[in-house]
Amino acid sequence: MNLFDVYPLYDITPVKGKGIHVYDDKNVEYLDLYGGHAVISIGHSHPNYVQKIQEQVANLGFYSNAIQNPLQKELATKLGELSGCDDYNLFLVNSGAEANENALKVASFVTNKSRVIAFKHSFHGRTSAAVAATDNPKIHAPLNQQQSVTFVALEDEETIEAELKKGDVCAVIIEGIQGVGGLDVPTEHYLSYLSKKCKEHGALLILDEIQSGYGRTGKFFAYQYADINPDIITTAKGMGNGFPLGGVLIHSSIKAAYGMLGTTFGGNHLACAAGISVLDTLKDEKLMENVLQVSEYLVHELSFIPKVKSIKGKGLMLGITFDFPIKEIRAQLLHEHHIFTGASSNPNLLRILPPLCITKEQFDPFLLALKEILS
Ligand SMILES: Cc1ncc(COP(=O)(O)O)c(C=O)c1O
Repeated sequence: MNLFDVYPLYDITPVKGKGIHVYDDKNVEYLDLYGGHAVISIGHSHPNYVQKIQEQVANLGFYSNAIQNPLQKELATKLGELSGCDDYNLFLVNSGAEANENALKVASFVTNKSRVIAFKHSFHGRTSAAVAATDNPKIHAPLNQQQSVTFVALEDEETIEAELKKGDVCAVIIEGIQGVGGLDVPTEHYLSYLSKKCKEHGALLILDEIQSGYGRTGKFFAYQYADINPDIITTAKGMGNGFPLGGVLIHSSIKAAYGMLGTTFGGNHLACAAGISVLDTLKDEKLMENVLQVSEYLVHELSFIPKVKSIKGKGLMLGITFDFPIKEIRAQLLHEHHIFTGASSNPNLLRILPPLCITKEQFDPFLLALKEILS
């Protein structure tokens, strides 16, 4: 059987990872400034992570959601403590799209409405409601067009208010920082405005922190730079450091009911073990503090590179923009300097999403390579 051919692939076969590096089948070392798409938070094959998963699978890898699973409670407690979101309840899932799908469903159940407001250049995943709230018609199947979604420009207040006033909106969904869309950050003022207007008009505010959360910006969630309490927060990627794990944090004012949501694999024992070791390591190794320090260093050093036009984003979710497409730079970084970086829908933007344990010095090979390529 062949694979369903949906991914254009690089001719590179990583077989091992350690910290911020991956190694291919010829033992070539790559500096990972992409984190497998913002997924690697505590570093590849972190010893605590490996040990925790090994121990758990040797005891019990999986049982269904019909039994007591103390690991889910431990994960929820530790997540509440480290994120400061103690006033939320946690529903565990397997991916980012599934987290958003369930968040949108909860909003629709609670408000008894169905229209969603999302933002231009948004990305929320590939499942039915999540993809419909994604501003990319190329990945909408005719089936997805049944959902009613209105796309509004980031920072636009007038249109949001006019749309919310119609009274049929169940949720406004917004990324903490736009990822695929090109690293636009909603201002603190705008998030406060959205929060206030959603409350006024009976819609729920969903913060998609799937990429921007779990310490990537130096705060646990990117929205925490603003003074708001979203109704629902979604998370995945860094949550499992590569183990498929996602979460929907639902404000305690929203009441659960048996059967309202469900999943076979979500919150399984092995995923919880992975998630707990991520939270323990984020805390013990003070990785959020590290993010702020190394990010400041990188942004400062980049400011001396003449062809760098601007730096977007926050913490270790950064986009470096140029006056020309970055395709060639990215290819040279990968093939000649063995450095992974990311791209976005903006062809002039190079994305930097490394593991959160990276040190200042570990950015130096990248800075040198970039200077050499640009000179
Ligand atoms: C902001 C955001 N939301 C949702 C998703 C979807 O996550 P997943 O691919 O795990 O379904 C992504 C993935 O890139 C994302 O960046």
